[in-house]
Amino acid sequence: MKLFHSTSTLLTALLMILASSCSDPENNEAQPTLETSVYGTLPDEQEVKIFTLTNANGMTAKVTEYGAILVSVTSADKNGKQADLTHGYDDLDGWLTNTSYFGSSVGRFGNRIADGKFTLDEKEYQLATNNDPGGIPCHLHGGIKGFDKVLWKGEPFETKGARGVKFTYVSPDGEEGYPGKLTVETTYTLNDKDELSWETQATTDAPTILNIVHHSYWNLSGDSSTSINDHELTLFADHYLPTNAGLIPTGEKAPVSGTPLDFTEATPIGKRVEEDFEALKLGGGYDHAWVLRGDKEGELTKAARLHDPKSGRILEILTNQPAIQFYGGNFLDGKATGKNGQKYQYRTALCLETEGWPDAPNNPSAPSAVLRPGETYHHIMVHRFSAE
Ligand code: GLA
Repeated sequence: MKLFHSTSTLLTALLMILASSCSDPENNEAQPTLETSVYGTLPDEQEVKIFTLTNANGMTAKVTEYGAILVSVTSADKNGKQADLTHGYDDLDGWLTNTSYFGSSVGRFGNRIADGKFTLDEKEYQLATNNDPGGIPCHLHGGIKGFDKVLWKGEPFETKGARGVKFTYVSPDGEEGYPGKLTVETTYTLNDKDELSWETQATTDAPTILNIVHHSYWNLSGDSSTSINDHELTLFADHYLPTNAGLIPTGEKAPVSGTPLDFTEATPIGKRVEEDFEALKLGGGYDHAWVLRGDKEGELTKAARLHDPKSGRILEILTNQPAIQFYGGNFLDGKATGKNGQKYQYRTALCLETEGWPDAPNNPSAPSAVLRPGETYHHIMVHRFSAE
């Protein structure tokens, strides 16, 4: 009996040690883990996996093969409390209704192309015109069934101090009207320094255009019913691209100085958003590309810093891309019912999408969006989380 007694005591002690070593939202002491599970099946019966990444500080990220979507991210506030920071859905069926590109990997060409037209090597291509801001038709985010709506193949991995998933998708020649068979790899990595990176590489068997972007909607408060107008934003950019009423850049690269688009110093998003300034009127708020300062082609540079004074959470974004789209959630209208039954209202989240220039294929002054056989497209975006 004594043996039984000592064994049960030992078992109790072991269970207590195990329980204390698992993720504790208050103390953020967690066992780094990577879990794979079946998320569900698509209407065509294909199985979809979801992967849950947890780092040593208790920060988590969930990513799924459908749309290579970032399903959720939790990070600690200034009191160490974890909360989910992104708009999205509770299950796969919800994600199948995603018309706002929540959490999505977007392509083949993220952002807009005027009239859906571009010319490459003297041949004109016509893409779907699936969007019409200001009543002006354009191609948006890869068309009717872009990369956010296809099934990728996920391969989980673990390295020292990090864990992640590499998603692969092969876009056939002619898919959504784009030339060339494009092989895309998008990798999410969560390390133990509270950095979540999204990194995409692509190669093609024929000349094509691309601009693959990550499109999460952030609310650092952890309460998706609140406005992001109090979030303080810094953009490491001295110029932006003015647009026409169809949100297509005019070709001008304008200084931000003296305008409500000057975020060179941390500024509450809501402080100037209603000012009588043409770019804000045309965009219905902030919805523009800022040209980043990084002057070394392809080097990783700071693009943005977002701070929520209430929770203390900070999100810094670094990239090797020439621009960042700051979209202030102006099209959110309460129609999308997301996580925990939350109806996502106007400006309750914002997007910070590192990118090539919108409509680059039609803008000779834009960095090229052309990829040719033998070249590798490479887009890295690091989300660095902290709190103070
Ligand atoms: C990007 C665009 C916005 C909007 C969103 C998706 O952020 O800049 O105009 O289309 O995508 O809703």
